[in-house]
Parts: sequence; structure tokens; C-alpha cells
Amino acid sequence: MPEGNGTVALAFSGGLDTTVCVPLLKEEYGYDDVIGVTVDVGQPEYEFDEAEETAEALDVEHFVVDAKAEFADLCLRSVTANADYQGYPLGTALARPVIATAILDVAKEQGCSAVAHGCTGKGNDQLRFEAVWRDSDLEVIAPVRELGLTREWENEYAAEKDLPVEGGDGGRYSIDTNIWSRSIEGSELEDPGTIPDDDIYKWTENPDGKESELLEIEFEDGIAVAVDGEELNSVDLIQTVNETAGAHGIGRTDMMEDRMLGLKVRENYEHPAATVLLTAHEALEGLVLTQEERQFKAQVDQQWSHKAYQGLIDAPIVEALEGFIDSTQERVTGTVTVKLEGGHCRPVARDSEYAVYSEEAASFDSEDVTGGIEQKDATGVAKYHGFQSRLAKQVTAKVKANKENEAVADGGDPESQE
Ligand code: ARG
Repeated sequence: MPEGNGTVALAFSGGLDTTVCVPLLKEEYGYDDVIGVTVDVGQPEYEFDEAEETAEALDVEHFVVDAKAEFADLCLRSVTANADYQGYPLGTALARPVIATAILDVAKEQGCSAVAHGCTGKGNDQLRFEAVWRDSDLEVIAPVRELGLTREWENEYAAEKDLPVEGGDGGRYSIDTNIWSRSIEGSELEDPGTIPDDDIYKWTENPDGKESELLEIEFEDGIAVAVDGEELNSVDLIQTVNETAGAHGIGRTDMMEDRMLGLKVRENYEHPAATVLLTAHEALEGLVLTQEERQFKAQVDQQWSHKAYQGLIDAPIVEALEGFIDSTQERVTGTVTVKLEGGHCRPVARDSEYAVYSEEAASFDSEDVTGGIEQKDATGVAKYHGFQSRLAKQVTAKVKANKENEAVADGGDPESQE
């Protein structure tokens, strides 16, 4: 048995993958000791209990780091970029750099020589974790990927070693939950043609028969700060909106996702607060940003979201994109009322002192536009509008007619000449 490599800090959930990693890090990689680190980004309580119990049974020192507030702040910041990737508001993706950084901090504090994760070689998370970790001097280890482990092999190994894993994988699906989203994958859901059972959802209820509800979100510099007039910190705000909107069945996404390695996978998510806050934020931008700002920002937002999906929110380009985003968000201050109804959320009112809107100008009732402009001043604009298109069509028609005339004069059939 190799040994003498010191201590390795393992990203630990207490699930099958990370549980089998513990003996393997000693047996296969020669580490003397393994510590487990679980980072709290808003998982349900039972996940911490499971991690704690499993760590104890494995005789692994277990650290829990609370990164909820930091993560919730990042989620609200992602809303300033209207962040979504192919329709998914990036819950898992945004959490990974936060988790990886917290684990690295513990590893350094505890004098570890390496960090390890239990991700497979097929997903995105291996890349997101390692992007953070490889920016340090510590060794990076990915046992599941490097040893080519399968669930079947892991289950057999766990049984043979008498490792504390209940029923193998702890459930039918692979679930990743944090404050921003709940992701459900695996089992029959992998087949894009399967209609999921309603019971895969835990945050969103069937809205049939539920009466609609209005919710007012207040933004300050693009950041949601209050709900229905009550100021809340980022964690409480997201949790409150998750509960309220979840009761209306808002925020279910069933999609094909293009992973970083090129695999196309079927994913199911629920994210009530993300849907509501993104909808409200976009509605407020519609009121306060100019047309060209909105058009250009859509491209900036897409780039930001793509880097976030890759787990690269530390990249220099992200800082540059945020320079633009932040300068627009100074005016994204005000309130938006959304209507929650039948699984959908739509803006029904918005209000801001930065509104690029003049009632006098837009109204059908007043003669004056604004700044002394009158209705009839638009006549010149109307005459020019579409001028190029009209001219292009006229020129084409003229050239065609000339050619036809020439062909007739030559005595041939214009159609057969070419
Ligand atoms: N595919 C998503 C992403 O890469 C989420 C994966 C979540 N993992 C899970 N075991 N459900 O961001």
C-alpha cells in the first residue's frame, strides 16, 4: 500500500461516489489521511445529516462551511446579467466555484497536500472544481474519473469493504439542490422521450385550482432587496420567493442541455425564485434602459452566462463584462409587480424614477410629444421610412424590364435566354 502523501481534502456529500473515494484515496493514491468538506449552499438539512453520519462511520474528520450568504449574493448578482444557459438559471454552475474555493481554503488551513472530488469524467462539475483548484499548488485528484469507476463497481466495492452506503445510491435520481435551483437527473429521465412523474418535483406544486397572486419585487442597482415592501437579506429573499412562487408551480424547466464536453443531456430543474426574479428584473430593464443598451446587453448577458456555466466567473472577460453590466444597473432601481398564476409568472406593473418614459410623449391624448416636437414633425420621418427598400425594389424591377425588352428586340424568348 503506497503511503506518505499527507492529507487530502475531499469534497464530501456522503453519497456513494464520495464515500468510496475515502478508502481509494488511501489505497490507490497513498494518502495517509482524508478529511471531508461539505459546503452549505442551501442544501436540505438531511444532506448534512447524511454527510455527518457517513463521515463518522468512515472515521473521517468532517468540516462544514457555511457559504449560503455568499452564494445567495452571487445568485442575485447573476440576475443583473439576466443569467441563464439554454433556459437554465445556472444553480449548480454558480455554486461550484463557491464550493471549490471554500474547500481549498479548508485544505490550506488544515495543511493538506491535495484536494479531491468524486465527479465523473462525463459532467461539467469536474471542470468547474478543477478550474479553481488548479490555480493552487495543491495536487488535484479525481478518483472516479481517473480509475474509471462505474456505479456498479462502486456498489460492489462498498459492499465488500462494508462502507456506510444505504441502498447504494440513496435514491432513483441524482439530485443537486442549492438555494437557487434543484436539479433532477438520471434513471428514466435520461431518456428525452420519457414524461417525468410529477413526484420528481419538491419545490413546485401542481397549480391547478390555485388562485393567482401578485408579488412586488423591489430592486436597487439591479439587485433584489425587498418583497412586498419587506426588506430581506439575499438568503431570506430567495427562500421567500421560492416558497411563494413554488406554490404556483412556477419555475419548472425540462430541457436538453449541451454540456461542456459536448454531451447532450436531458435535464429537469425547478427554480421558482430564479424565474420570478429574472422575469421582474428584465421587466425593469425594459423600463429604464435605452433600446440600444438592451440590445447590446443581451449579448453581454449571454457571454456572462456562458462563462458562469463553465464555472469561470473569475475570468478576466467576466470582469470586463461586469463593467458594462454594472454601469447599466445603476438605473435598474424601482419595483416590478408580477402575477403568479397557473405555473407562470408575468410582469403586470413596473415603476422607477429612472423610467425612460414620458407619459406626455407616448399618450394618444396629448398633442405635444416632448421638447417642442409635434405630431406633424413625424411626416418627414414617415416619408423617408423604408426609402432604401422602395428604391431597391424599383431598381430591380427596372433592370428586369430592360432585359426583357432587349430580349424581345433580339427576337428570342426572354425565358430561354440566360
Ligand atoms: N447539468 C447541470 C450543470 O451542469 C446540473 C447538474 C446537476 N447534478 C445532478 N447530479 N443533478 O450545471
